Amino acid sequence: MSTEKPAPTTAAEPVSTDPVDRVIRYHIQTKHHFNRYARALGYLDWANQPDPFRRFEGAPLISLPLLKPDDEPVSPSYDAIYQRGAARSQAVTVPMLSRFLEFALALSAWKRAGDTQWALRSNPSSGNLHPTEGYLVLPQIEGLDLRHGLYHYAPKEHGLELRAEFPVYQVARCLAPFPPQSFLIGLTSIHWREAWKYGERAFRYCNHDAGHAIGTARIAAATLGWKMVLLDGAAEDTVAMLLGTDRKEDFNDAEREHPDCLAVVWPTEDVERDAKIEIPLFVEGAVVGDLAKCTWHGKANRLSRENPVPWEIIDDVAVASWKSAVERLMLSLSPPAMDDASRETSDTGPNAGKIIRQRRSAVAFDGHTSITAATFFRMLQRTMPRADRPQMDRPMPWDVWPYEPAIHLMLFVHRVEGMTPGLYMLVRDPEKLPLLQQSVNQELTWTLVQDGPDDLPLYWLLEGNAQKVAAQVSCHQEIAGDSAFSLGMLAEFEGRLRQMGAWFYPRLFWEAGLLGQVLYLEAEAAGVRATGIGCYFDDPVHELLSCKELIFQSLYHFTTGGPVEDRRLMTLPPYEHLTRHT
Ligand SMILES: Cc1cc2nc3c(=O)[nH]c(=O)nc-3n(C[C@H](O)[C@H](O)[C@H](O)COP(=O)(O)O)c2cc1C
Repeated sequence: MSTEKPAPTTAAEPVSTDPVDRVIRYHIQTKHHFNRYARALGYLDWANQPDPFRRFEGAPLISLPLLKPDDEPVSPSYDAIYQRGAARSQAVTVPMLSRFLEFALALSAWKRAGDTQWALRSNPSSGNLHPTEGYLVLPQIEGLDLRHGLYHYAPKEHGLELRAEFPVYQVARCLAPFPPQSFLIGLTSIHWREAWKYGERAFRYCNHDAGHAIGTARIAAATLGWKMVLLDGAAEDTVAMLLGTDRKEDFNDAEREHPDCLAVVWPTEDVERDAKIEIPLFVEGAVVGDLAKCTWHGKANRLSRENPVPWEIIDDVAVASWKSAVERLMLSLSPPAMDDASRETSDTGPNAGKIIRQRRSAVAFDGHTSITAATFFRMLQRTMPRADRPQMDRPMPWDVWPYEPAIHLMLFVHRVEGMTPGLYMLVRDPEKLPLLQQSVNQELTWTLVQDGPDDLPLYWLLEGNAQKVAAQVSCHQEIAGDSAFSLGMLAEFEGRLRQMGAWFYPRLFWEAGLLGQVLYLEAEAAGVRATGIGCYFDDPVHELLSCKELIFQSLYHFTTGGPVEDRRLMTLPPYEHLTRHT
């Protein structure tokens, strides 16, 4: 993205030590401007490119079986994963964990151009640099033929590396508050992988990617009839202790991992019928402390030849947004809301696994493919979290998310049949309509789109051809204008940070990534394609709406349309390297 030279350092200013001020400072400093990109090295140091595959040398590797698309259980239809109860709940077994990880974090293909070959994954990543690492905490589960403990997922091998042998009773104690057969998934980020290319803006991209991975994991769980909820009440120290990212002795001179989040996953069988179950949205630090006093295996591999280029502001924002407090929140696993439970389930249409496996980013759009208004509305409906409902009654994947939505979509409609091209706004939390209206240009029309579904708060703001301006504000990337529509994710910013605390800054990007993941799959299901856009000129986007100060900030862009394939690239299957010699 940025190939500009770093901007000259400005004279020292008094720096606030307030964590919210610090994350805001990071945000402002890492904006791209028309005349100056956020600071990066200014060139790609190929010799020092980080290895995209972390391994823990010395940790036993357990290979997971490579399931074929038609191996049982065949995925439900793509539509069925969005209907509560429509996907049959599977027991937690090694093949089912294999499928879960395949859809969440595995390789999805290799691409080859000349002598160069690189892997793609189920989870997209800014610059395909893949800073996100995945972990599982497995208790003893009947029928699961795996030792209890902490595992690191190795995507190239599609295997689990046993990092820690948590004692059986300790891990059972840690998971006791959750439904039967629950296990944990943890995500971490290696900031250096993104910083190698993108410099100071990398912390944003790592968190977008974490959000995408939360999305791929939640959706993978849905294909197996499993639920998943972020345990975001946990303190970050606890997450670090549980996932072993705080173990200096295992990292030596290897690039460190930043603990992002934990989530609990469980099969729904036997759970839904009990209306009274409450689960904590955290794990106890003391319990994890006991758990971590066990035998650990493996030393992290070094990813780059030279030491990472230090970007102080990334370290500073990582510290400022560290979540030090635990919130002892409880979540009620309520029975399904009537309208969801009574909805007819459909098992027609494309298979969910097929859509997940075929997901790719478009590298270019054809500038003429349109989508119907019905398709457009359906895509937008999938992004609606139904903030008026309790968390577990929200539609998948929004049931994973323990917060009120903070992001609204500013849409550039280019080629949607029956819709006037121009600028629109999807208000994902209808209660925020007044805040949005007060914070932008008072001359915008805010006309509710009448022919959309009743429950879609989609407003028409401005008429006109927005193709040029969409591309211009997206770092001059034509993909934002040649598509059917593109969008900017407008986040409730300073108010939300002051209310929640600096630790909420990464969560804003997670929500953006999760939204992006929903839209990526929706595009595939609609027969078109999408691309996430992390490179955009921040303030010029805000100026389009005359957005006041820091009330709203655009955190991620996205585009969807008719793709143009790059025929110079060859596509190879994801795991041929594992099966070639057998
Ligand atoms: C957070 C994020 C930001 C991205 N930004 C851009 C972008 O600005 N321009 C672009 O062409 N692609 C962008 N992409 C697409 C990635 O390049 C793509 O996901 C990656 O190459 C992996 O390919 P895949 O999505 O086909 O698996 C972005 C993806 C993510 C997840």
